[in-house]
Amino acid sequence: MAKSYIVGNWKMNQNRHELNEFFGELEKEALEGGNFWIAPQFIHIQSCIEKTNKVPLKIGAQNCSNNDSGAFTGEVSPKSLKDLETSFVILGHSERRSIFAESDELINSKVQKVLEHKLTPILCIGETLEQREANQTMDVVLGQLSSGLKGIELDSEDSIIVAYEPVWAIGTGKTASPEQAEEVHSHIRQKLKELYPELGEQISILYGGSVKPSNIKDLLEKPNINGGLVGGASLKAQDFIALCKATI
Ligand code: 13P
Repeated sequence: MAKSYIVGNWKMNQNRHELNEFFGELEKEALEGGNFWIAPQFIHIQSCIEKTNKVPLKIGAQNCSNNDSGAFTGEVSPKSLKDLETSFVILGHSERRSIFAESDELINSKVQKVLEHKLTPILCIGETLEQREANQTMDVVLGQLSSGLKGIELDSEDSIIVAYEPVWAIGTGKTASPEQAEEVHSHIRQKLKELYPELGEQISILYGGSVKPSNIKDLLEKPNINGGLVGGASLKAQDFIALCKATI
C-alpha cells in the first residue's frame, strides 16, 4: 500500500506571528504516526524547521530553481534548501504553470535537480475546467505526468510523490467528488506502473483542490487516493490537525 500524507501548501500566506500560533496549537496535539508536511514561504522555512523538534512535521518548499547556484537573481537553490534540511519541494503547481508560465520541460529539470539533492519532489498535475469540459482531462494529466517524469529514475517508491490537483477545484470550494478524483488517480496509477513497473503501485498519489476536514474521509476511502495536498484548510491549525488525524 502506498503511504498516506497530508501536505499543507501555505502558498503566499502565514506571517511569523500566525505561524507561531499555528505551531503552538499543534504542540498540544498527539500527532504521531503519520506523514504530515508543511510548505511555508521560503523565508519561513528555517524557523519552521526549528519548530519541528516539538511537532512531528516535515518542512518543504513550494518551488525552487533548476540550478544549484549562479547568476539567477531572485531564485532559490535546491542545494541551499538541502543545506537547511528541507525535506521536499512542491513542483509544477498549477499557479506556477499558469501565473509564472512554467513549462513541462522546466518542471522536469526541477524534478531531476531536486532528486539529485535527495529531496522529495511533489509533482503537481491537473486539468483546467475548459480542458475537462472538452474531455481532455486524461490527455492533459497523463501528458503532464509523463513530461514531468521524462528520463527520471527512482531509487524507491518514496523518492517522489504525485499530486493530482484539478485547477477548477483549487481555492474554489468546489472539490472533485471522490469518484471523479479516483477515476483520474487510477489512470495516474496505471501510468506510474508502466513507467516504474517495480514501484508504481506504491508511489503515493495525493489529491488537491478544496480538501477540508468534512471531505477528507470520503476521498481517502478510494484505493488510489493516498492523502491530500491542502491549501486554505492547512492554514488553520484545527483544520490541519483534523485532516492529519483522518489519515492515522
Ligand atoms: P485549496 O485547498 O485552497 O483549494 O488549494 C489547493 C492547492 O492548490 C494545494 O496545493
